[in-house]
Amino acid sequence: MRAAAFTELIGPDGVSVIDRDDPEPGPGEAVVDVAACAINRHDLWILEGDSAMVDADDLPFVTGLDVAGTVREVGDGVSSVAPGDAVVLCPNETCGECRFCREGPENMCENFSLYHGGLAEAARVEADRLLPLPDGVDATTAAAIPTAYMTAFHMLRRADVGPGDLVFVPGATGGVGVATVQLADIIGARTVGTSSSESKLERVRELGLDHGIRSTDTDEIRERVAEIGTPDAVINHLGGEYTELGQHVMRRGGTMVICGRTAGGTSSIDVADFFLGHKRVVGSTMGTQDDLRRLVDLVAEGEFEPEIDETFPLEETADAFAAMRDRESVGKLVVEP
Ligand SMILES: NC(=O)c1ccc[n+]([C@@H]2O[C@H](COP(=O)([O-])OP(=O)(O)OC[C@H]3O[C@@H](n4cnc5c(N)ncnc54)[C@H](OP(=O)(O)O)[C@@H]3O)[C@@H](O)[C@H]2O)c1
Ligand SMILES: [Zn+2]
Repeated sequence: MRAAAFTELIGPDGVSVIDRDDPEPGPGEAVVDVAACAINRHDLWILEGDSAMVDADDLPFVTGLDVAGTVREVGDGVSSVAPGDAVVLCPNETCGECRFCREGPENMCENFSLYHGGLAEAARVEADRLLPLPDGVDATTAAAIPTAYMTAFHMLRRADVGPGDLVFVPGATGGVGVATVQLADIIGARTVGTSSSESKLERVRELGLDHGIRSTDTDEIRERVAEIGTPDAVINHLGGEYTELGQHVMRRGGTMVICGRTAGGTSSIDVADFFLGHKRVVGSTMGTQDDLRRLVDLVAEGEFEPEIDETFPLEETADAFAAMRDRESVGKLVVEP
């Protein structure tokens, strides 16, 4: 089979299509014919050599978390799915033994890791991590859901966002950003988001963004947000200077949930503002498999449609990563092996 592998950790030029042996399912596993696999900034970190998870010894490395397709074959002991089933993968990998696996939420597993391997014609996965696709949800749509939408969904829950709340979303145009805007809209919350691009903001307004601020200057953004309102919650996937910004714009007792570090891996906080303002900062990673099930159901019921900017054949996987690096896209980029 063919796979789009990272053969050098130098950015998009390091992606090559290689031949690999067809995978065989072991006990408890399934092999999926991959129809679609979305990419995430997590994959780009790896490709740019900026992830501790993968180094030169691991090459060639096949990434790809968000797999959707058709079950080809199942291993011993698998009864939850059968060959021919249309499925989407929850990319969580958990130990099943720690207290969080026993009592939940599973994404807090002490040995949490992520599935990699979807940028290929076939993927060998844990069968228990496959969810059936309802009628009307095609594989490309399904592949756009897991990482971005599970993460945004879980963050909105951790922030207790409810109807009428104002949610601040720095970086509202990418995978997690657009997902946050769309899901906040379903809840009945209002959103204020930022981007460096007015045309990208215009597209996100069509998806439910209430207020768009085209700026990357955090002082300017702070003033513009204050003119709009006082956010009850901040969904922060950028980190860096956007953390202090988020802290200052949110209301007394507000919650900022952080899941990423696109704009920087360290942030400073104004300590006194935090304690005098009774503010909360919460870390969050991915979501639960049940979050994914709910999201797939919401899509099937027509509550929202994951935003897909562009699809690429496997041979053009490097172009998908270049589009992400160059900040060209709105929402998700999906490879169709
Ligand atoms: N912990 C978790 O479980 C988890 C899960 C998913 C994602 N994440 C993290 O969340 C972040 C977003 O992931 P994603 O896949 O949604 O990425 P993405 O689609 O590439 O996000 C693009 C967004 O980030 C903005 N952006 C890009 N570079 C920026 C920079 N240098 N400074 C400020 N804004 C910048 C873009 O703004 P413009 O519109 O201006 O281009 C756009 O709004 C990543 O850090 C990722 O690792 C974490
Ligand atoms: Zn565990």
